[in-house]
Amino acid sequence: MCGITGYIGYRDAYPIVINGLKRLEYRGYDSAGIMMYDGDVMHLSKTKGKVSDLEVITNKEEIRKEGRIGIGHTRWATHGVPNDTNSHPHFSQSGNLVIVHNGIIENYDTIKKELISRGYEFQSDTDTEVLVNLIEEVKKTEGCKLGKAVQLALTQVIGAYAIAVFDKSKPNELVVARLGSPIAIGVGNENKEFFVASDASPFIEYTKNAIYLEDGELAIIKKDKGIKVRKIDNDKLVDANIQELQLSLEQIEKGGYDHFMLKEIYEQPKAIIDTYRGRMLPDEGIIKMAGVDDNISKFLNADRIIIVACGTSWHAGLVGEYLFEDMARIPVEVEYASEFRYRNPIITEKDVVIAISQSGETADTLAAIKLAKSKGAFVFGVCNVVGSSIARETHAGAYTHAGPEIGVASTKAFTTQITVLSLIALKLAKKRGTLSQTAFQQYLQTMQLIPNQVEQLLKIDKQVEEIAAVYKDAKNCLYLGRGFNFPVALEGALKLKEISYIHAEGYPAAEMKHGPIALIDENMPVFVIATKRGHYEKVVSNIQEIKSRSGKIIAIVTEGDETVKEIADHTIEIPETEEALTPLLTTIPLQLLSYHIAVMLGKNVDQPRNLAKSVTVE
Ligand code: F6R
Repeated sequence: MCGITGYIGYRDAYPIVINGLKRLEYRGYDSAGIMMYDGDVMHLSKTKGKVSDLEVITNKEEIRKEGRIGIGHTRWATHGVPNDTNSHPHFSQSGNLVIVHNGIIENYDTIKKELISRGYEFQSDTDTEVLVNLIEEVKKTEGCKLGKAVQLALTQVIGAYAIAVFDKSKPNELVVARLGSPIAIGVGNENKEFFVASDASPFIEYTKNAIYLEDGELAIIKKDKGIKVRKIDNDKLVDANIQELQLSLEQIEKGGYDHFMLKEIYEQPKAIIDTYRGRMLPDEGIIKMAGVDDNISKFLNADRIIIVACGTSWHAGLVGEYLFEDMARIPVEVEYASEFRYRNPIITEKDVVIAISQSGETADTLAAIKLAKSKGAFVFGVCNVVGSSIARETHAGAYTHAGPEIGVASTKAFTTQITVLSLIALKLAKKRGTLSQTAFQQYLQTMQLIPNQVEQLLKIDKQVEEIAAVYKDAKNCLYLGRGFNFPVALEGALKLKEISYIHAEGYPAAEMKHGPIALIDENMPVFVIATKRGHYEKVVSNIQEIKSRSGKIIAIVTEGDETVKEIADHTIEIPETEEALTPLLTTIPLQLLSYHIAVMLGKNVDQPRNLAKSVTVE
């Protein structure tokens, strides 16, 4: 959480830093700040609110006119409420050092007390102000330069960080470091300029060359001289690996849509194709996935598969459980990474752990991976962000290739994660002989139809919008599904609550009678997924039970369904496909529905309150 940007070079730093913050706002948006150095004075502007609020202030203060060096921050509060004082950047007591930080310093209280005993005073409640003063203290007591002081200070802290630090007395230098939070350095024109950011999006129009710092590394960036990367714990110099970015500007802009979420919903047909392109080869009757092929014995000899993830990715993992068990007959457990990491789980060398994460930076998932590795399990990553921490920490993996997902509510990440999991399940089913070649081939043919079917579903957007208008003022909603569509019910409920703030719960349809049915009355909209082959008759009975208690029923059915149409208040039809692949379709109207309700309620769809796209804290 939190986004950091920085620039050092020959251009005006202000537009680079402020526009960079706008692109990183998905990481946190409860306050924002910027420091510009004009060669003499460090100008600071910061405020509670969004980057646009910061811009109003910087326009008035005109700090943007000057400066070839700048750092900026967009915050998701951890220590200290979101207010002007707690916003970053933070100065050290002398006013010579300034820092932006993404992460949490867990032992900040102990360090703060020590610094107070040495005469330091603090303006904010943040752990970050403690860190910048610790660096100042180390610099003073050790008589060292900024880079060394940062390094020594970091050896004293426990926690996670990505930081950028500037020292007025070293005006051609920026120091950055990371542990547990990402940081990318853009290498500009002939080493004459450098960019720093939580991801590469802030500098994509300036350079395609980036260095991604590894955990425990620190970089001293010197204008006109270049970059030196070292290990924080042992001072060893590291060869900085410059990568060519594949990201384009177009991918990170709204492209005519009102919101990123809507754009990303509409990108799903293409995203699904990008996910299976080159992997699913129906003509040859095979699925090729290097990460699986190279480690096929691990998968085939696995006693079980454990899937770890959080939020929407966890829901995709649940779909994965149904897929792996149904097709490949391998036992699967799906775990919240946050629970798994702390409950002393039983993991053996014969387990395959699949970690699913859009961002590839989720702290709990990362910790679960490290735990599984320490117990000898083979860990496979399913990530969207190329080069992310989870992609690097896992033994092997498969990217989802969904393209950048910027809306905080995950949409195309979910469907592409399910696509990857379907491919792996099918591949293993074929290898294990649990699916005949004919059935396998049938799946590949059917999968190929999915992108067009999603396209077709997107055309009912208007119908979904009309349904949204009817239920937008509901205070509570229920989502029901069975089998492959039980996780879709959970995901539908999550989408609604996170962007519209309407309370919603997802349940397996048959569980309703064990409690939730007590909630049903004429004010309760119930969204039910009732696809043709998904325990259809049973779900129809559940729908009848809701009807007889006056609940409002909005059913997602297979096209041509007549039975449910007669009972439900509204029906949304999805094209026919294999039951195992229906989550790729049933989820689309639920995404659209949440989107329209949130828009009608005037909520900030792309940046819902209290959330952030990348959850790099516990
Ligand atoms: C919900 C949402 C979150 C994420 C969760 C995990 O729309 O986006 O629930 O799914 O924070 O994030 P990743 O997938 O980046 O690990």
